[in-house]
Amino acid sequence: MRTDNKALLKVENLSARIDRQVVLDNLSFEVDQGECVAVVGGSGAGKSTLLRCMMGLTRPASPYRGSLWFGGTERCFTSKKQHARPEGIAFVPQNPDHGFDPLKRLNWQWRQAARIVTGSSAFNASQQALMDSLGLRSFGSSFPHQWSRGMQQRLLLGIALLGKPRLLILDEPTSALDSLIAAQVLRTVMTYAQEQDIALLIVTHDLALAARFATRTAIMTAGQIVEFGETSKLLDEPNTAYGKLLVSHRNWEVAVSHGDTVSAAAE
Ligand SMILES: Nc1ncnc2c1ncn2[C@@H]1O[C@H](COP(=O)(O)OP(=O)(O)O)[C@@H](O)[C@H]1O
Ligand SMILES: [Mg+2]
Repeated sequence: MRTDNKALLKVENLSARIDRQVVLDNLSFEVDQGECVAVVGGSGAGKSTLLRCMMGLTRPASPYRGSLWFGGTERCFTSKKQHARPEGIAFVPQNPDHGFDPLKRLNWQWRQAARIVTGSSAFNASQQALMDSLGLRSFGSSFPHQWSRGMQQRLLLGIALLGKPRLLILDEPTSALDSLIAAQVLRTVMTYAQEQDIALLIVTHDLALAARFATRTAIMTAGQIVEFGETSKLLDEPNTAYGKLLVSHRNWEVAVSHGDTVSAAAE
């Protein structure tokens, strides 16, 4: 059960603008240790901007208020020191194409990543265990394009998990993939994250994904988080007009019930 003193990440009162336009307006939410939280909202709501600010990027949107509290350290979004990704947070981009160098073999890319996070490029037993748990086969001499997108996405997740982050952020994990493949990949990651006590923040336009995986969900529209709470409660009784619209206009129950029957053939 969640208790109030287990917060791993807190974003408090984050506001940001692009030129004079406010694109994030007083956002607050939190993620507990080992918890899965979803941020759900339509296109243009400000989800990617939120992630960019959390990763310490100040363009195109520049934060003008708020703080980020992670693993015991609080940083102002407006402070210069904020301009670095907090250690312990891993981020997987929405499109596998943005995560790999197409001209380098996968083996080399994995070893580079391993060297950065572990200090050694040697392939060890724990890396093999990670690959096994994600259902990844050995690299051979493959280049990225020789693997299916589902496998590429899993490999990106594997690379993100190599550094044993305390929080893994996934930006639109369904957008580049068939939703059934995405459900399968996410279930694998979820199991691994639970075993390793890694918290997940899933940013998505897909309410079904939140319903399936997240303990708590933030509903975002027009730069604001209009609801944040237990996912099941929020789906049963959305409080705001936008929350009601999102819940009533999505065919999310179907996707949720089918999410459990995905087979490896979906790759
Ligand atoms: N490079 C940019 N220049 C100007 N406006 C931008 C830029 N990127 C995003 N925006 C604006 O910021 C708002 C939030 O965009 P974004 O964070 O990409 O939304 P989402 O990820 O939820 O689809 C939108 O109104 C969008 O038009
Ligand atoms: Mg986006």
